[in-house]
Amino acid sequence: MAASSLQAQQPLRCGVRLLFLSEELLAGLRLASPSQKALQLELQPGEDAKLIVTDDDGICVLKCLVNRNTEYCRVGKESLLITLGFKSVLLRFRSQVEYNVFSNVLKIGWKQKKATSVFSQRTDEASATQYFQFYGGLSQQQIMMQDFVRTTTYHRAIVQNHIDFKDKVVLDVGSGLGILSFFAVQAGARKVYAVDANSVTKYSELLVRSNNLSDKITILTGKIEEISLPESVDVVISEPMGYLLFNERMLESYLHSKKWLKSNGMMFPTFSEIHLAPFSDEQLYTEHYSRANFWYQECFYGINLSSLRSAAVEEYFRQPIVDTFDMRILMAQTVKYTINFKEAVEEDLRRVEIPFVFQMMQSGLIHGLAFWFDVAFVGSLVTVWLSTAPTEPLTHWYQVRCLLQTPLFAKEGETLSGTILFVANKQQSYDIHIVAMVDQTGFKSGNTLDLKNPFFRYD
Ligand SMILES: C[S@@+](CC[C@H](N)C(=O)[O-])C[C@H]1O[C@@H](n2cnc3c(N)ncnc32)[C@H](O)[C@@H]1O
Repeated sequence: MAASSLQAQQPLRCGVRLLFLSEELLAGLRLASPSQKALQLELQPGEDAKLIVTDDDGICVLKCLVNRNTEYCRVGKESLLITLGFKSVLLRFRSQVEYNVFSNVLKIGWKQKKATSVFSQRTDEASATQYFQFYGGLSQQQIMMQDFVRTTTYHRAIVQNHIDFKDKVVLDVGSGLGILSFFAVQAGARKVYAVDANSVTKYSELLVRSNNLSDKITILTGKIEEISLPESVDVVISEPMGYLLFNERMLESYLHSKKWLKSNGMMFPTFSEIHLAPFSDEQLYTEHYSRANFWYQECFYGINLSSLRSAAVEEYFRQPIVDTFDMRILMAQTVKYTINFKEAVEEDLRRVEIPFVFQMMQSGLIHGLAFWFDVAFVGSLVTVWLSTAPTEPLTHWYQVRCLLQTPLFAKEGETLSGTILFVANKQQSYDIHIVAMVDQTGFKSGNTLDLKNPFFRYD
């Protein structure tokens, strides 16, 4: 856990002088020299380093967190300017040596945390920043909450299994606005820890207070891999599913949270099933191919673009297609792959290989493989299913299809066999490798796709 590295690094204490810079002062820019009064600075290193400045009487004159996103710059040999919101403060150290020590301790703290968090080891920093910003706004949370199938099913799964929540301690992993935490309280939970790594927690705090539930729901801002809870929990609840289940790699965070779960504790959802089947869809295939036709042009403002056509086709075929379809395009019974969240560990999801053998129910061209997933909440009273199948009401996950660049012809009764391999990447997503062969003819095809970059084909 990250905390151990933090404990290893002692707080830094040194003298400092401060100058607060307001907008008004900057407008007139009469730069006074920093207060002559020497103050005591304490820096507690870490990813979010805590900076506290006190006067001789121990009264705090500055307290803030400084992390990699904080705006700061060096001024001269021994001063540092930090900007927090619309306020800036100049820290003037007693010497250049003290400035250097401060700066090093700050940076080492940032690095140590980074190296020790499971999340940061497996995630590209830019990807994480963009990801948490995406979920930081109310509009994205609204889209999820307004997915009627999703929200009602979670509500039903929790409230109908009230005996699993009554007087229990619950952990909500990636709580967003805390909707699942509220459901847990409605089901009788004694205490809920709602953890989310993005700034949406300021809104969930407000919701908790305005619903008078501050004694029941505690909001914690941070990654589940990096926060600390005061006690272990009876139930973990979460909505960690992305497109094709795996996108976002949040399932790993969900599994990671089991370190806080009592040995007889429950996971809501409890397991998931991915379904896949070969499909035939001439229109989709042609449409996708035609997207690259732009690059056929031999005189685009006098430039011949056609040498880029094959690269464009490659790029488009790397995109999984997110939309919905009629079940009748499926050419065989589905193959199912199950992940049990009580038993699986994070490492199991780094590389997921699904072998398949499909018995063709009709003759025709196979254009690719179609996917969807279901999750099940196994409670003591009822098991509730949330399905994203094409036969069920549509959810914001839709279904996902992966095209083969070269379609395969197969006759009814023949078999299509091969594997689909999901390899996790640092962009919080997966590379998908498909290899398929019609066993009776030996015709082979395949594709490699980038789940991070799907093509949204729905209206
Ligand atoms: C799909 S949303 C679900 C939000 C909410 N639970 C709901 O059902 O409406 C996933 C949330 O998990 C958060 N999240 C993802 N990975 C996380 C991690 N490792 N630690 C903490 N929060 C995480 C995201 O910031 C996002 O708000």
